[in-house]
Amino acid sequence: MSIADEDLISAATGARRNAYARYSGYKVGAALVDERGHLHVGCNVENAAYPLGNCAEASAIAAMVQQGGKRIVKIAIAGGADDIGPCTPCGSCRQRIHEFADGDTVILAIDDSGDWQRYSIEQLLPASFHLP
Ligand code: THU
Repeated sequence: MSIADEDLISAATGARRNAYARYSGYKVGAALVDERGHLHVGCNVENAAYPLGNCAEASAIAAMVQQGGKRIVKIAIAGGADDIGPCTPCGSCRQRIHEFADGDTVILAIDDSGDWQRYSIEQLLPASFHLP
C-alpha cells in the first residue's frame, strides 16, 4: 500500500502551515502513510519552556499509533528553506521513525524550493539501537 511522493509531500506541506513555531520560527510538517494506506500528519509544536516542544515527526507518529497504525511505509518531512536545504529528521526523530520503519520504508525530506531527497532508515540511522 503506497502513495505517490508528490501527494505525501503535499500533505506534509499542508501540515506545515499549522506548525506552532513561535520561538524558532522554523516550521515543520510531516505526513506518513501506514501499512493500511492510512494517512497521518503532524507539525512541530513549540513551548515557552523550550525542551517541551514536539517535532513534526513525533506528532505524525503519535497520530498513527492512536489510529491503530503499526508501520511506516513512507514519511515526508517538509521544512527547511532554499538556503539551508531540506529538513532531514533530527537525531531523536530518526530513532522515533526507526521504531516503526522497515528496510524499505521511504523517508522524504523537502525544502521550500520543492527539492526533495529520499532516504532509507539505514542511511539516516546506521547501527541503530533497538530491542528484541
Ligand atoms: N524540528 C522538527 O519538527 N523536526 C525535525 O526533524 C527537526 C526539528 C522542529 C523542532 C523545533 O520546533 C524546530 O524544528 C527548530 O528546531
